[in-house]
Order: sequence, then structure tokens, then C-alpha cells
Amino acid sequence: MNEHLYKELDWRLRVFDSLSFPTLILKPDRSIVSANQIFLQKYAVEMDQVIGKRCHQVFYGAETCPNKVCPFEKVISDKSGTSAMRRFTTRTGKRLYEDRVFSPILDDNGEVAYIMESVRDVTRQKHLELALKETEDFLEKVILGSPIAIVAADRYGHILLMNPAAEELFGYTNTFAIRHVTAHQLYPSGTASSIMRQLKQSRGKLPSVRTTIVNAQGEEIPVDLTASIIYEDEEEVATVGIYTDLREKLAVERKLKDAQAQLAQSEKMASLGQLAAGVAHEINNPLTGILFYANLKLEKMVPEDPEREDVEAVVEDVKRCRDIVQNLLAYSRQSSPMKDIIQLNAIVNQSLTLVRDPKMFRNVKIERDFSDEMMLVHVDKNQISQVIINLVINAVSAMAGAGTLTLRTYRDKVRGKAYLEVSDTGCGIAAEHLSKIFDPFYTTKAPGEGTGLGLSTAYGLIKENKGNIRVSRTSAEGTTFVLEFELYQAVQDPTAEAEEEM
Ligand SMILES: Nc1ncnc2c1ncn2[C@@H]1O[C@H](COP(=O)(O)OP(=O)(O)OP(=O)(O)O)[C@@H](O)[C@H]1O
Ligand SMILES: [Mg+2]
Repeated sequence: MNEHLYKELDWRLRVFDSLSFPTLILKPDRSIVSANQIFLQKYAVEMDQVIGKRCHQVFYGAETCPNKVCPFEKVISDKSGTSAMRRFTTRTGKRLYEDRVFSPILDDNGEVAYIMESVRDVTRQKHLELALKETEDFLEKVILGSPIAIVAADRYGHILLMNPAAEELFGYTNTFAIRHVTAHQLYPSGTASSIMRQLKQSRGKLPSVRTTIVNAQGEEIPVDLTASIIYEDEEEVATVGIYTDLREKLAVERKLKDAQAQLAQSEKMASLGQLAAGVAHEINNPLTGILFYANLKLEKMVPEDPEREDVEAVVEDVKRCRDIVQNLLAYSRQSSPMKDIIQLNAIVNQSLTLVRDPKMFRNVKIERDFSDEMMLVHVDKNQISQVIINLVINAVSAMAGAGTLTLRTYRDKVRGKAYLEVSDTGCGIAAEHLSKIFDPFYTTKAPGEGTGLGLSTAYGLIKENKGNIRVSRTSAEGTTFVLEFELYQAVQDPTAEAEEEM
């Protein structure tokens, strides 16, 4: 061999030995031709222990290769490199990962003459990869399982993630949101930009704000929002929003406020009732006296007496005063009810016949929306009629004589209640007047047109009959008053209800 050739060979051997990874040169029949120094060190073998051996004899100490697929076949057929991951456990129980890279060495005809196999220990990377995956899986489980709605969007507002709680709140599936929804669509117009502005002003962290979101159906939902911007290398990459649905909380707050208002109202009614009862009692006796003597005087007068008209006027006015006192007594619940068991629909029908003043109802359409279920109530039917008449008269006057008056009855068996709704298409009641309409003498009508005793009387009579009266709706489109009664439960005769069930 000439010197030049020696030099060339020496140089190639040096390259082979300086490879940082343990490396073998094999023939296509898998017999080992050479191993570099690092290989010998790493596997603690001598060169002559490996030369001529098959790779599986060195790696696995096995006569046949235990691998189902051998990368050699692919390298030989494709004449290009490939790699394979090998996982194994050492005798001390350590789990190791090796990445093996197979590179073909071609002869002058372009056929695979040798295969170079480098072994790279990737145990550390693999363990890090596994740990990262575990953390990712864990975080994913936390986000997916969270009962709190979480949405992430990129800096352009494209949705990146919507967890199941957010899917439920917003009404989109995660996949649909990622493809078709932007963060701006999740809020009423202008809100998303304003949130982003606040977020930037508060250095990427918005602790908690009350805002409104819009769901897939276009419904606006009040929420509590916590948001933050995620930065990577000081660059804004995403925004995450955490939403708490406030509907339930607000409903409870509203109920509490209503209950407080009702309590205040009934306290006021009770003290006004006491006052009214006192005044009514004091006035009742002198009124009876005035009426008695005025009538007496009238009886003694001849028809052509010039003073007769004056005395008649006194009798009329005193009667009016007596009616007022009667109403006050009803309001302060000083009247004594005569209760019967009666169908609610029957009382409503009877009341309508009593109130039907043709002039007043000329342009009023009356709609009866009666439930045909059994709705027995234990009440004084004359008193309840008076209540209904008062409500109907108010409704018709609120409609200035033209519109639709609807009387609806229904029951709630679970609560044991029967209801009558009296709705009109009238002018409605201003919010600031609502707390006063049941007060005696509160009226918005012109003097002489109303005394303001209709609703206070109705209130007293309804309470006397163990019921409730309230305004359930009022706006410029009209008003609905609801009367609530206890359903009569035939305790002594259980068959009555049973028959009805059949
Ligand atoms: N259906 C209704 N629509 C609009 N406002 C109403 C309605 N019912 C009552 N109101 C308001 O409540 C006030 C009090 O009613 P209430 O029946 O006690 O007295 P009134 O109708 O004014 O007088 P009275 O009934 O003694 O003739 C009314 O003056 C009116 O302002
Ligand atoms: Mg009235």
C-alpha cells in the first residue's frame, strides 16, 4: 500500500473514531465490520469480541433478532438513512432510550455496501418529554374538568380553546368556536375592545370585572370576568378569560330585594291599616247619627219643601262617606268574611256580570283564558267579587275605555295555589308609583274621579281571605295584577282529588 493510501485510510479511521456517538459499521447481512472507540468504551467490549458478530448478538446477546421490524431492510431498499427508537430496561431496572440512526454507505455501483449504525442515548430527553407530556395532560384535565368557563384566544381574537364549561355558557362547541368564532362575537358590540384596553392598562391582568357576554343564541348573560394576557419573550401571544355565570346569583339578589320590599310594604300596610281602622270607627258612629237624623227630617218634609233638595244632598253625601268608611274597614280587615268553597272561575264570571257597564266597556275586548282544572277556593265570594270589580274598573280606566282586558286563571298544584291574572293594555304604572298604589287615598285620578280606595280595599279583602295581590308586570304596553289564593284541599274527603286525577 502506498503512503498516500495509508494517509487516506488513517484520516478516515480518525473521523470514525472521533464520532461522538457509539457507532458500528455493518455489512448488509448484519455482520459487524468495525466499531469506533466510543462504542467499545460504552459497551465495555474489545474490538475482536464484536467483529464478525451480528448486531443482535452484541446488543441483545440473542442468536435471532428480537425486533419485529429491522431498519436494515428499509435502508437497503431505499438507499437512504432512517432511525429507530429502542427502549430497554437495564439489569438494575433503569429504563433507557436509544435513538439509532442507520446510514447507508454506497459502493461504486450505487448499491449499499455497508451500513453505519450510530447509537444516541436519549434517555434524558425522553424523560423530560414524558414529564412535560404528563404536566400537559394534567393541565388539560384541570382545564377540561373545570366547572368554570375558560376561553383562550390569540392576539387577533381567534379562539384557541373553549373548555366544556365555556361551551355550555357560550353555546358553541370548541371545534366550531375555533373555526368560526372570534372573541369579539362573545360580547356585545364594543365590549371586547374595551376589555382589551383595560387589560393592557392593568399590565395584562384584570382581576375581576362585571360584564356581559353574548351566547350563540344572541342572549346576553351577566358574568364576572377575570382575564390575563399570556406573554412569550415579552410578546403578547394569547388572552385567557375566566367567566363566572352571574344569572343565579343575581336572581337570588333580586328575590331578596323583592322580599325586603314586600316586607316593608306589608309593615306599612299594617300601620296604615291601624290608622284607617281607628279613623273609620270614630267616624262611623257620628255618620250613623247624621244619616238617621237627616232621613228623619226628610220623612217629615212635604215633597214641595224648598229645603228638601238640600237635605237630600246631605243624605247622599253621608252615604258616600259611609261607603268610604266601609272600604276603610275592609282595608283594615275589620269586616267579617262569610266564606264558602267555590270555583275560582265562577267568582270571576259572576264579578264580570256585575261590572258590565255597557258604556264603559264599549271598546274593550274581554278575553277569558280560564284553566278548566279544579280550582276550589275557600273565600267570601262577595268580597273577592269586590276585589275583581275594583281591578277590572282600574284596568278599563287605564285603557281609557279601549283595549283588551284579559282574565286568566290557573293553578299550581305543588304549591297549592290558584291564581287570577287581570291584564290590561293600558298606560301602565310608573315605577315610582308602584310602592304607593295600595295606600288608602292614593290616586292619580282627577278629584272626583277616584278616591284612591279601590286597591287598598282590594288589598285588605284579599289578605282577609288568606290570599295575595301584586303587580306582576307593568310597562307602557299594559299592566297585570295577580291574585293568589290557597287551593282548597278537601282533607276530609280525599276521594275528591283522587277522582280528579283519574
Ligand atoms: N290597571 C292599572 N293601570 C294603571 N294604573 C293603575 C291600574 N290600577 C291602579 N292604577 C293606579 O293606582 C292608583 C290607585 O288605584 P285605586 O284603585 O286604589 O284608586 P283609584 O282607581 O284611583 O280610585 P278608586 O278606585 O277609589 O275609584 C290609580 O289612581 C292608578 O294611578
Ligand atoms: Mg280604582
